[in-house]
Amino acid sequence: MKFTILVADDERNIREGLAEALRLEGYEVALAADGEEALKAVEEGRIDLVVTDLRMPKVSGNEVLKRVAGSYPGMPVIVLTGHGTIEDAVDSMRVGAFDFITKPVNLDHLSMLIRRALESRELERQNQELQREIESQKRISSIIGRSPEMKKIFDLLRRVAPTKASVLITGESGVGKELIADALHNLSPRADKPFVKVHCAALAESLLESELFGHEKGAFTGAAGRKRGRFELAHEGTLFLDEIGEINQNVQIKILRVLQERKFERVGGEETLEVDVRVIAATNRDLKAEIEKGSFREDLYYRLNVVNIHVPPLRERKDDIPLLAGAFLREFTEENGKNLEGFDTKVRAAFFAYGWPGNVRELRNCVESAVVLARGSLVTLEDLPPGIREAQEDDTVRIPAGSSLAEAEKILIRETLAVQGGNKSRTAEILGIGRKTLYQKLQEYGLDGSRAEE
Ligand SMILES: Nc1ncnc2c1ncn2[C@@H]1O[C@H](COP(=O)(O)OP(=O)(O)OP(=O)(O)O)[C@@H](O)[C@H]1O
Ligand SMILES: [Mg+2]
Repeated sequence: MKFTILVADDERNIREGLAEALRLEGYEVALAADGEEALKAVEEGRIDLVVTDLRMPKVSGNEVLKRVAGSYPGMPVIVLTGHGTIEDAVDSMRVGAFDFITKPVNLDHLSMLIRRALESRELERQNQELQREIESQKRISSIIGRSPEMKKIFDLLRRVAPTKASVLITGESGVGKELIADALHNLSPRADKPFVKVHCAALAESLLESELFGHEKGAFTGAAGRKRGRFELAHEGTLFLDEIGEINQNVQIKILRVLQERKFERVGGEETLEVDVRVIAATNRDLKAEIEKGSFREDLYYRLNVVNIHVPPLRERKDDIPLLAGAFLREFTEENGKNLEGFDTKVRAAFFAYGWPGNVRELRNCVESAVVLARGSLVTLEDLPPGIREAQEDDTVRIPAGSSLAEAEKILIRETLAVQGGNKSRTAEILGIGRKTLYQKLQEYGLDGSRAEE
């Protein structure tokens, strides 16, 4: 691969002399006669390293350095300096210059610096890649759950991740949709390519379009320069459109076009761009209902929903509660340097009885605050927020009308076991059956007893 070096100097002789020498060494060279041109070249991409003079018209070399260091960390800048500006050059090291070199430039010295800078950049890049790999490993194993519902999701994840199929993740707020989107990307062949997230609900309608597709300079008031959109940034990677139910019709049509033809234009632009992007979308809305109402396009829905991953609310997969609560407890005891061994029986019962309208997020927050408040070695009821604390006092078991006897029995066993914090002898006693019978029934109903005890 050929590296591209930007040489910025207002003195033409120096600029072209350096360019000539660097080209002979096999580099591509871009030239800028002032700081403004330099920044423009950097923004347009493809620059691997900047060599810049400090004193330049319009925008100073120091300013160029600051902006590059701020917006393109990892792009090395080598500062050129005349006799009068050595102190400034030393200062520039503090701002993040890789090194400086005094004029007249010793070409051997410069090319040595450039080699070193590019090498260290490469090392840095490899380091980051490794870091990302570790992170992704953590992410996949960070989805906790072993209810049949979650097992189905893991299975689906493994089958869908390697493909390019669009995935629509649905489910209530806080069920873990974003976590699943992360895993989909990390388990895919695109894992080392960009994973770009757009929170559609957080952006004003007018901004969303330019955020997604980018804009050309002057496309609207305030569009000072060309900006790349998220679709462009996600090229070869994955784009996660979070809260897709919130976007307006105009943007819906444009997204539909990218999904169908892979093509789009920047706002205010003529050029048609082509991208290779895998799209994952998530919503806590019922898009079918939105289609009925006419606020969501049916054709877009089918393009997004090639595969649907529906994450059920926590109250419908209560088997995951002990596992999640336990993991969050470990996480937050460590974070807060506390010494907590677990939850007392009443807390476990309350966790089981409560409906968790905020799902896993609510459970996580609840455990965090309980860990902070807890005084003893166990989390007790008084460490819980009132709403959850009271759930325990309601010891009625709800069995939906229309359940079969077997279903009713399953629910009754599960809830009793929960209220008893997983203690099987006591559960059997309360239910008036023998321990052996209880074990049989637990197996029969897939209420594997060991799970409830965690
Ligand atoms: N199965 C899980 N295992 C571990 N942590 C989870 C799990 N599900 C959710 N969480 C945690 O719960 C919180 C909420 O999850 P996430 O942001 O993915 O939810 P969401 O479905 O995207 O919610 P919203 O619709 O509000 O955006 C996060 O802190 C996430 O790490
Ligand atoms: Mg989310």
